[in-house]
Amino acid sequence: MTKSLNLTRLWHKAHSHLQPFTEHLALADKHSFVCPICTKHNAFKLVAQVRFGEHSWESAEPIYCPDCHEYSLLDVPNNKAPLTAVDARLWSAEPTFLNIEPTTRCNFNCWYCVGRHMQQEDIKVENFAQVLDNFPTVKTIALVGEGEPLMHKGFFDMAHMAKERNVRVMIISNGSTLSTSIVKQLCESEVAYIGISIDSIDPEVFASSRIDGKLEQIWQGIQRLREYRDANGFQYPKIGLKGTLFSYNKDELPSIVAMAKSYGVEIFESFQALNPMSTYIPIYPETSLNEVEHIDEVAHAINQDSIQATEQLLPFAEFCAAEGIEIDKNGSANNVRNNCDEQWVYSLLSGDITPCCQIKTPISPTWNLFNYSLTDILSDHQYENTRFNLWNGIFPSYCDGCWKT
Ligand SMILES: C[S@@+](CC[C@H](N)C(=O)[O-])C[C@H]1O[C@@H](n2cnc3c(N)ncnc32)[C@H](O)[C@@H]1O
Ligand code: SF4
Repeated sequence: MTKSLNLTRLWHKAHSHLQPFTEHLALADKHSFVCPICTKHNAFKLVAQVRFGEHSWESAEPIYCPDCHEYSLLDVPNNKAPLTAVDARLWSAEPTFLNIEPTTRCNFNCWYCVGRHMQQEDIKVENFAQVLDNFPTVKTIALVGEGEPLMHKGFFDMAHMAKERNVRVMIISNGSTLSTSIVKQLCESEVAYIGISIDSIDPEVFASSRIDGKLEQIWQGIQRLREYRDANGFQYPKIGLKGTLFSYNKDELPSIVAMAKSYGVEIFESFQALNPMSTYIPIYPETSLNEVEHIDEVAHAINQDSIQATEQLLPFAEFCAAEGIEIDKNGSANNVRNNCDEQWVYSLLSGDITPCCQIKTPISPTWNLFNYSLTDILSDHQYENTRFNLWNGIFPSYCDGCWKT
């Protein structure tokens, strides 16, 4: 025999500020539940941990009713000890991975890049130092954003600052600036990883999306880096592959992987289809807008070909696991619905933290890593509540179009 339990008092005692957003995108799960308290048929599931008596914590799926605002636990066996606690903060308290945008400037002009429509600027090196002070638990920093990291004149000052504090640095680059001098500095500053974006092995197709990019120059740069690194006994940077594909070259992934491997690439990071977020679409030129209709088929081809790619190159997740880089749990589904469970922190070059790297508008003035410690930001009630909602797949309107929604 089972019963339902009203969880509301314990919920508010533990974290009254955690509350599903009133306005949110339609929930991806098809089931709504009858609320045992008000009997309306609008309740939906959440994820949490609960304790019965003095027993250890166990996973649970309480329901929340948007009509009476009560939380309930359904189908609890009658012989269970009394419910004593609930905790819906399922994320890790101390992320160790920070993604911060070093610059929005770039020497390419890719037609799909939101960075070309943002204010063109660099992070100040002194602000980067402030970030290191404000985030003492950070172990890995990805200097990645909507620009070309190696265009930042102070890039190696930041890399050295991080190295002095035993913080690893990773970047994603267009691979166009890998001169002998840059290659030497990348090795000497022990940048742990460079992911290089290649959209095609056909120079013309490449140049049609990576506008102003010359493919041959990129292959030469990769080869230069790999040869210099290996010849001089450096272990890092490891070299990875990334890219974006379109309807006209969606089947190119295996050839890109093979070619990249022949020039010295070792790791398969990821390929993606065009970003379908509603905030991105307005920047796509009219002549390329039809690409939006092909996103699903491109994503399907990428998923298929990525399996084979990870037989040719080391999967990025394995590289991260071996290096102790904690960037896992990136948007996997929970048992209730698709969610967004990024355990890492994303910061714009203004120091403003947003819940996701695809959100370019600061949300709260107090979520700023130049002015506040990470501990202060993470414990801010509004920040926690945003995290709670994303963790449960209750998405605000600014997430519209993301594949997770
Ligand atoms: C924003 S770039 C920045 C780093 C570097 N400049 C580069 O291009 O690799 C990082 C990655 O995002 C991809 N990207 C950028 N805008 C995109 C969009 N609208 N849709 C899909 N992928 C995109 C790029 O192809 C690249 O692999
Ligand atoms: S190379 Fe990277 S940052 Fe530069 S325009 Fe292309 S996608 Fe944007």
